[in-house]
Amino acid sequence: MSYRLRPATAADAQEMFETQVGAFGVEEGTLRWGASRSYCFERTEQHVVMVDESDRVVGLLHIHDHPIQVGTCFVRKADVGHVGIRPELQGLGVGTQMMRETVAWLGEQGYHLSRLGGLVHFYSRFGYEPFPRRFVQIDLQSVRGGGRHIPGTELYSDPGEWPGQVRAYDESRDYAERARLRWEFDHGRSGALVVARECDAPTHPAPPDTEALCWVYEREGQVLGFLHAVESPLESTERETVFTISEMVYADAFPDAAGALVRMLLSRICDRGQVRVTSRLPWDEAVAEALQLAGVAHSRLEMFQAVASNMILVIDLASTLEAISPELNRRVADSLVADWSGAVELSFPMRGKCRIDDPTQVTAGDALPGEACQLVIAGGEVTVDAGPGPVDLQIELTQAQFVKALFGIAALTELPCMRGMRLSPTERGVLDALFPRTKTGSGPWG
Ligand SMILES: CC(C)(COP(=O)(O)OP(=O)(O)OC[C@H]1O[C@@H](n2cnc3c(N)ncnc32)[C@H](O)[C@@H]1OP(=O)(O)O)[C@@H](O)C(=O)NCCC(=O)NCCS
Repeated sequence: MSYRLRPATAADAQEMFETQVGAFGVEEGTLRWGASRSYCFERTEQHVVMVDESDRVVGLLHIHDHPIQVGTCFVRKADVGHVGIRPELQGLGVGTQMMRETVAWLGEQGYHLSRLGGLVHFYSRFGYEPFPRRFVQIDLQSVRGGGRHIPGTELYSDPGEWPGQVRAYDESRDYAERARLRWEFDHGRSGALVVARECDAPTHPAPPDTEALCWVYEREGQVLGFLHAVESPLESTERETVFTISEMVYADAFPDAAGALVRMLLSRICDRGQVRVTSRLPWDEAVAEALQLAGVAHSRLEMFQAVASNMILVIDLASTLEAISPELNRRVADSLVADWSGAVELSFPMRGKCRIDDPTQVTAGDALPGEACQLVIAGGEVTVDAGPGPVDLQIELTQAQFVKALFGIAALTELPCMRGMRLSPTERGVLDALFPRTKTGSGPWG
């Protein structure tokens, strides 16, 4: 039997659903069953499917198209999920063929990066490498200070006194202000999704719901912050109830907006037993200070998974650099090394992270070939050149290291690949101008 990959069509929905629930052993009537159904029937065209010779679906995966900002530019990331093969066909190489063809297809579709979560052992053979994930969490547990013990219910039951008021979100009245706040909060933030300055008026605006965990913060008639949180039944356990802040944005100059909104949320959920709030709030010093000032103890959790992990793939280094070249130009032009000229080569010797003690883990599994690319800087302009040529600085790095530098999670010069390099102050200045540590979002990359 031979198999081929193709984009899904509406006629595939039922077979996709059968394949999905079969592959993952999803029980009928559960939350996951409902979620699988809605993905297969309502987002059919966001999938690619593996079909057999009679065009029957035997495997599928879902792709979210995520445009992610790099300063003023953006790169396209394919977020791959729900990878599944019919149970009776598992272990026969169909999933390997499907993933390999998917990676080639993503390249043809113009994606720059791809992300997924799963077993490193399996996905590294297609070039994916482990990549960190970041969360900001609030544990509503008791606090102990010396001999004093303050229960979470006491700490957070009072939402506090603020210069402004928190009120229920009223979509018809607030949608445009929410979009404006989102734009101001995230525009230009590397690693965050592209944000639109304008948004269309909702056709059926939801009326204000005083039960919903969805509020705005207002001062003198001006909306300065927005928060939306939901209970996450799939994450909750018998011991713990988990809430997710799905969106929080506020005006920079008004940290009281962040404090008031989060304290309102905590006051509403602190009596629900063992409660944890998780979020993809950015690791931003301003956010951390705003929460701390509001008396909200929180932690930043960075996960470096290894066996089952968040993973990243740079599908095409040259086109990724092309996509961000206007931003690189701007960075160099605004730097102290704007008059430097020369070439910087970035290269991946191979794609796919292999364990130091067992490199065959990847090479045996057809990891993608390496790639090298030059950034040629002359007359204050940065151009991308994929061909060979003389270089002044040659940097070998892993895809994960590159993506950290791309999104400003770490400066390029901080990364382990730079440790052994002797850089002149000017060369260091050039690399710091090109790939600095910046204000970065989290969520879209892990
Ligand atoms: C994971 C899955 C897509 C792989 O497809 P497949 O056709 O069975 O895989 P292949 O026969 O091509 O390759 C088998 C490899 O998959 C690996 N594998 C098994 N279960 C896996 C899993 N849950 N996630 C990732 N890899 C897995 C095996 O370790 C095996 O590796 P090996 O070749 O070194 O022995 C398929 O087994 C499946 O649908 N599993 C159930 C759903 C699932 O767990 N999906 C992954 C979500 S991340």
